[in-house]
Amino acid sequence: MRSCGALLSQPLSSVVGMVSASRSSKSKRHFLCRACGASSGTWSGRCPSCDEWASVEEVHEAPRARHRAPATSQSLASFDGADSIPWPTGVSEFDRVLGGGFTPGSVTLLSGEPGIGKSTLTLQTAVSVAMSGAAVVLVTGEEAPAQVAARAHRLGPVPDSLAVLDCTSTEAVCEMMATVKPQLVIVDSVQTLRADSIDAGPGSATQLRESAAAVVAEAKRQGVSVILIGHVTKDGNLAGPRLLEHLVDTVLSFTGDRSDDLRFLRAVKHRFGPTTEVGVFEMEACGLQPVLDPSRRFLKDRTTGVSGSVVVSLVEGRRPVMVELQALVSRRGEQPTQLALQGIPTSRARLVLAVLERRLGLPLAGHDVFASLVGGGRSDDPGLDLALGLAVWSSLTDTVISSDVVACAEIGLAGELRAPAQIDRRLQEAYRLGFRQAIVPSSVSAGPTGLRLLCCSTVASAVDVLHPVLAA
Ligand code: TYD
Ligand code: MG
Repeated sequence: MRSCGALLSQPLSSVVGMVSASRSSKSKRHFLCRACGASSGTWSGRCPSCDEWASVEEVHEAPRARHRAPATSQSLASFDGADSIPWPTGVSEFDRVLGGGFTPGSVTLLSGEPGIGKSTLTLQTAVSVAMSGAAVVLVTGEEAPAQVAARAHRLGPVPDSLAVLDCTSTEAVCEMMATVKPQLVIVDSVQTLRADSIDAGPGSATQLRESAAAVVAEAKRQGVSVILIGHVTKDGNLAGPRLLEHLVDTVLSFTGDRSDDLRFLRAVKHRFGPTTEVGVFEMEACGLQPVLDPSRRFLKDRTTGVSGSVVVSLVEGRRPVMVELQALVSRRGEQPTQLALQGIPTSRARLVLAVLERRLGLPLAGHDVFASLVGGGRSDDPGLDLALGLAVWSSLTDTVISSDVVACAEIGLAGELRAPAQIDRRLQEAYRLGFRQAIVPSSVSAGPTGLRLLCCSTVASAVDVLHPVLAA
């Protein structure tokens, strides 16, 4: 582990409010789970909150000072908000997810599995920001600066205002923020940070919490935007998720299917904007490229002429996205049935399957149901209900749905179809992509000229209306 003692002019623990390593006789014993962040007064080998083994560790906190300087309040109207206008990174899909860009003084936690492309995404963002002449510092606790430089040169020109700090010391990072005051600081990764004043190893619950808290405090003080890169555990959780999630302003997750080059950037929490937008990238030899037409990309390798496949028009944030939904229903005999889903919420799938059984009489008992959104994306848009229902019906009955049909409706418990939000934009997108028939709820009266609306009031009538348009 590299340290950066030479960079420190003075210990920052008093300034940034970090806990003292000295164990006062008055300090309370306090335990935290590294996996879920649950806190308790006693140690246990297994976290009572998340059941993780060997994740509970003692945290030593100095008792808070009893006498504080009196705080002075300030008129809210005296803040004009000019300091909190987001500035764009120039990476279009990143800015889309952030709602325009980074707010000064904001701290963003970027989480993702190892190898998914977090370092690449942040390096490209750093280059883009530094190209405008703004100072950007990459804190490289994970990789040597030479490695980072080699990657940066491979991706394109490297601006002079992009600097590297080869360091794992929390105090040194805070010191650098105070003296350099860069526009953007990227810490790769938060798990490598170590506050010297704390007697705990990097990646431990105590270090994660206190180091992140110190960086957040300094970012706010200096108005510096910070990205903290965080690894996820094998279950997809950030190590210490709740420890860090409440400390930072924004939590982004970067995901993708390893078998595909597509990558998705989503906001899980965002204090300065909505969490509905999705950034879509494609990992190429020259780095991550924004996917500007996700619908076309998702439908590129589409299967046609096979049962169990139907295209759905979803909305992610303000952008309609066409995706192929595939289902496979296979007989399992006496064994209990299994539901294997990719990109589709289990609760929605259970509802749709229950409606198919009860309202359509589909004999799904004794079958396994596999369903996925092709391309590795995921969506909790209720507008995918009908496509899922039709894909399952299509697979079970081995009937092929015509390739120019798109399905777009939410299913209610009575089997009724409801119009999802932004139906007009969904239908426009379907027409743009070459679809000529859309199965929609009866309440939808108009769509783009050239797109035939197959209006249905229930999922049963949607199945009926499909028969005449089944592919030969
Ligand atoms: P990386 O950004 O190092 O991932 P993380 O920081 O999340 O661990 O990305 C590593 C992967 O990305 C690796 O498998 C190689 C691939 N990659 C490309 O395909 N093209 C590129 O231009 C770069 C830089 C990486
Ligand atoms: Mg990395």
